Amino acid sequence: MRKKAKVVKKGELYFPNQEFKKRALIKDKAVYRKAAKNPVKFWEDLAKEVNWYKKWKKGFVHKPPYFQWFVGGKINITETALERNLKTRRNKLALIWEPEPVTERARYFTYYDLFREVNRFANALKKLGVKKGDRVGVYLPMVPEAIISMLACARIGAVHVVVFSAFSSKALQIRLQDTKAKVLITADGYYRRGEVIHLKQNADKGLKDTDVKKVVVVKRVDNEAKMRKGRDLWWHDLVKNESDWCESAVMDSEDLLFILYTSGSTGKPKGCCHVCGGYTVQANFTAKWIFDLKEDDIFWSTADVGWITGHTYGCYGPLLCGSTFIIFEGAPDWPTPDRWCDIIEKYGVTTFYTAPTAIRMFEKYGIDLIRRHKLETLQVLGSVGEPIDEAAWKMFFKEVGKERCLLVDTWWQTETGGILITSLPGVGPFKPTFAGLPFPGVKADILDEKGRSLPANKEGNLVILPPFTPGLLRTVYKNPKKFLKTYWADYGKKIYFTNDSALKDKNGLIRIVGRVDDVIKVAGHRLTTGELESAIALHKDIIECAVVGRAHDIKGEVPVAFVVSKKKKPVKKLEKEVIGLVRQEIGPIASPSKVYFVRDLPKTRSGKIMRRILRKLFTGEGLGDLSTLANPESVDNVRKIIQKSK
Ligand code: PRX
Repeated sequence: MRKKAKVVKKGELYFPNQEFKKRALIKDKAVYRKAAKNPVKFWEDLAKEVNWYKKWKKGFVHKPPYFQWFVGGKINITETALERNLKTRRNKLALIWEPEPVTERARYFTYYDLFREVNRFANALKKLGVKKGDRVGVYLPMVPEAIISMLACARIGAVHVVVFSAFSSKALQIRLQDTKAKVLITADGYYRRGEVIHLKQNADKGLKDTDVKKVVVVKRVDNEAKMRKGRDLWWHDLVKNESDWCESAVMDSEDLLFILYTSGSTGKPKGCCHVCGGYTVQANFTAKWIFDLKEDDIFWSTADVGWITGHTYGCYGPLLCGSTFIIFEGAPDWPTPDRWCDIIEKYGVTTFYTAPTAIRMFEKYGIDLIRRHKLETLQVLGSVGEPIDEAAWKMFFKEVGKERCLLVDTWWQTETGGILITSLPGVGPFKPTFAGLPFPGVKADILDEKGRSLPANKEGNLVILPPFTPGLLRTVYKNPKKFLKTYWADYGKKIYFTNDSALKDKNGLIRIVGRVDDVIKVAGHRLTTGELESAIALHKDIIECAVVGRAHDIKGEVPVAFVVSKKKKPVKKLEKEVIGLVRQEIGPIASPSKVYFVRDLPKTRSGKIMRRILRKLFTGEGLGDLSTLANPESVDNVRKIIQKSK
């Protein structure tokens, strides 16, 4: 086993020690300097290290707000993720699947196994009529077939559209309709906290009024799922006689690789479009350098494949680096609160990537429980998805990393495709609550409302400057207007606005403060208050509503709803119906933690609901000037209702 790495603390900063640096892939700032001189050349040099059929003609082309990378290059991501590894690590473990039931056996796939499974399924998809450019829905739990499906789509040039398995059938339907997917891949069910979730039933509902002609079903729990003749096919039947070789499709660098939906400000989610060439390069090198992935690492990212973290660091990134990685079907605290520690110790995980919400949950169960585990194989810890508060940072560093692991706090978004801000483990510095430095080649800045760059310690809007990064989204699927309005309107067409606010310290380390739009992060999951409001507004007895996020000890934030109803129905009944609607339209993760029935919502004279005031009613901050409100008395009424229901 490797010698234990040590971290050195200097003032409020943490650095890797000499021993860690010695074996780290990136050891000093030379790479930052080189990248800053010419970011396009920097990314082009990295691009040379992945497999291409044909080299690109131009590194970066910018027609604001549109841009392209590696123009004219021909590529298929599976050539690097699979073929390249067959040469040197054919029988190395690629994927370990840990099922939720502890009594069930794990499944293991070497690179060679995975290669053959992907090819078989790619051939099966072709027989179902899937062609290059076609969209394929993937509504799967955390099973190996989710990874195989994504890779099989990529293999034949089909565009995967993964939908989080805990999303509702309605959320699935919206995504299938928007993309006009012809095929859906799902499962009969899966295990969650000891229960069987009957996924196929949800899928069936979501298929209504879509163009899906064939449904491939993975048999996971054997719950006698209903199969519709002529439409539904079992995965195992389909692949049984397929050849384990399928030619990879030659893709243009700028061809679509996948669409992943993320919350939009209305009920309709945005399909973020990611392309073949740029995404491959960025996923490869961010995974490799940020997690310092080397031949003997075992990487576990706890994110579900339905989110961008599951795509980039729970599938493509580790494969592009030739690593061994784990996917886990269940909840990290099931059946025992330290199941996650057991998994780390069972497989000797070296690199553990999770969200602050999970870290806070681990703490809730008691530090003693974690102290019982040595977790001695861990080398690098990672955090993602929401700001990590100082207490959670310190607990993760001290109790999980035992003060010897580096802790990378990684900032990025569904839109960016890969991590853009975090200090590198072999370089540092690390500072609790600060994500760190922009990745080499990334130009980030913090601007005021007028677009002026702000000095240290001043909070403002976080932006990414040209040439951006190869993996940044190219557009919003079928909605260029939304693309323009969301990211390229505030500071013009040449500056990507992240919709986050941030500040930097005197060392240039960036701290993310939070969203400036109506996005809330619930247990790390991205939702917008607008989409919850659209769901609630479907209720026939609701006149209007407003949803805001309020702080929560474990989940970071939770949604709460303020509702004005037409009828004086029993409150409990109406609350249940409102929550039911949100679960039906979006999924259980979006359930409001509380529904307040109020007489009136605070509004400006022009009729705009003042959500800011509603938010402040929970934080204890002063409410500010209420004189601009058309109905200032509503605030007192809302406050009383909140207090009454405590
Ligand atoms: O507000 C930022 C927050 O999550 C948003 C992006 O959410 P999503 O698209 O779901 O992607 C999450 C996983 C990449 C960002 O705009 N966020 C993400 N990472 C961090 C973060 N906030 C603070 N610190 C982070 N490390």
